[in-house]
Amino acid sequence: MSDFSKLRTELVQLLRLHALGAGADLRAMFARDPGRAQRFALELPGAWLDLSKQALSDELVYAAAQLAERMQLRDALKALFEGHTVNASEGRAALHTLLRVPEGTPVTEALRDRHDDMQSALRRMAALGEKLAGEGIETLVNLGIGGSDLGPRLVYEALGAQALHGRRLRFVANVDGNALDAVLRHLDPRRSAFVLASKSFSTQETRMNAESAMHWMRAHGLSEPEISQRLVAVTAKPDAARAMGVPETHILAFSEAVGGRYSVWSAIGFPLVYALGIARFRELLDGAHQIDQHVLHQPWESNAGFLLALIELLHRCGFGHPSHAVVVYDERLARLPEYLQQLEMESNGKSVDVSGETMSYPTAPVVWGGVGTSVQHAFFQALHQGTDVVPVSFIAAARVEHDFDGHHDALIANMAAQGAALLRGRSYPEALAQESNPADPAAQARARQRVFPGNRPSTTLLLEQLDAHSVGALIALMEHKVYLSGRMLGINSFDQWGVELGKEICVQLLPMVTGEAAMSGLDSSTEALLRRYRSTR
Ligand code: F6P
Repeated sequence: MSDFSKLRTELVQLLRLHALGAGADLRAMFARDPGRAQRFALELPGAWLDLSKQALSDELVYAAAQLAERMQLRDALKALFEGHTVNASEGRAALHTLLRVPEGTPVTEALRDRHDDMQSALRRMAALGEKLAGEGIETLVNLGIGGSDLGPRLVYEALGAQALHGRRLRFVANVDGNALDAVLRHLDPRRSAFVLASKSFSTQETRMNAESAMHWMRAHGLSEPEISQRLVAVTAKPDAARAMGVPETHILAFSEAVGGRYSVWSAIGFPLVYALGIARFRELLDGAHQIDQHVLHQPWESNAGFLLALIELLHRCGFGHPSHAVVVYDERLARLPEYLQQLEMESNGKSVDVSGETMSYPTAPVVWGGVGTSVQHAFFQALHQGTDVVPVSFIAAARVEHDFDGHHDALIANMAAQGAALLRGRSYPEALAQESNPADPAAQARARQRVFPGNRPSTTLLLEQLDAHSVGALIALMEHKVYLSGRMLGINSFDQWGVELGKEICVQLLPMVTGEAAMSGLDSSTEALLRRYRSTR
């Protein structure tokens, strides 16, 4: 067993013991400690993070911080920020934090040229956005998937109300033609342009959507030069973009060392620069940079990235909770659960560690969620009374721009009530006391069904307001949680080999689906599916 494996085992044992002992009864932790709510809340730039409804104790945090030192977690953070190879299986750095270092801020000698390149890329993005707007482009359609879709989409949905006059974004990710059709049917081709957003420039969905968009422009009478003037490529493979006919001045390249799901800060954010303007985009970067500084420098005991990572590991490895729900009490953040799903599950959903050792501990939870209050009327039943404990992250903004009287107070009251109810629960005697005839066996059976176990954990992040700064900070905080929890498990959070096999098999299957190739080498179930499809279509 390597030294790291021993430390990891020690951490997991610490978490398991805590889950069975001091951390087993959250309500008792509150009862024992009147200062708990204050001590486990953190002031962050533009936000307040309440971790008190998690089974953290001073002793656990102290012991985990000691282990983090022995695991050289601080060095792992420095390695990330200083551009060392943190993505070992692909031999790359992960440069998303460098993208948000503001212009004029000193960086190490080794990173200076890259940082300068990133700053000039920002200026090119700004100029191209203005050029398109000046040419009468009113809708920019982002054709990209995964990390080349979710980041810009999340931020645009969050901040779209601040879009510059006469500029809007649309997004098409799926290879399902219905997705493209739903967008194109409302567009004027002369007032629209397409961003082909793909780091690899080889992704099936994006390439097919790009070809079909070009075909659609042709069908609407646009000439080839007019079409190419309506294409922008954002990629780490500029040659492939040139080969598709994208003009040189419309190619925005970014580094291979920016991971797809960490790429909203790069040229992948170009649609945001067009729609919101470069100043807003810089605010997004600044918000992220402030969190970077917090995570890099704050002691572990008050480090939001570390504490969120510790909580995640406590849930998975200590308590064995299988999933994590992200519930946003802000319609504008509706995309966040999906965004965090990719961030966390594609980064840490691994069962082999960085040295090739099979993990004997659970890794990424299933991340899912939705928008409150709507989901209170859907899956919250299971969160309160289901047999699995599902930790919840609540996210809301304290101030909003609309002036519909009373709505926001009601929204926040709902969020607070859910967290309180998950913690408090309701005992059988309490439920029975609400029955008019407690001696009646039917009333007793009903009361048992109205018991809430309580003791269910949640985190609450209250932003001061939803703006570019706070959205940047929020995303960066979650990135660091993922990196730090991955590092403590010994996982490489920056590769994603698990997406390969399905893609390879799809390439083999497609000619069998179309009938260009005979069926062979398939399991009988898959073959039956294809036969059924071919006879039914
Ligand atoms: O299939 C997974 C993935 O590689 C993601 O990691 C990535 O964000 C997405 O596909 C899109 O990739 P690309 O930007 O290369 O088209």
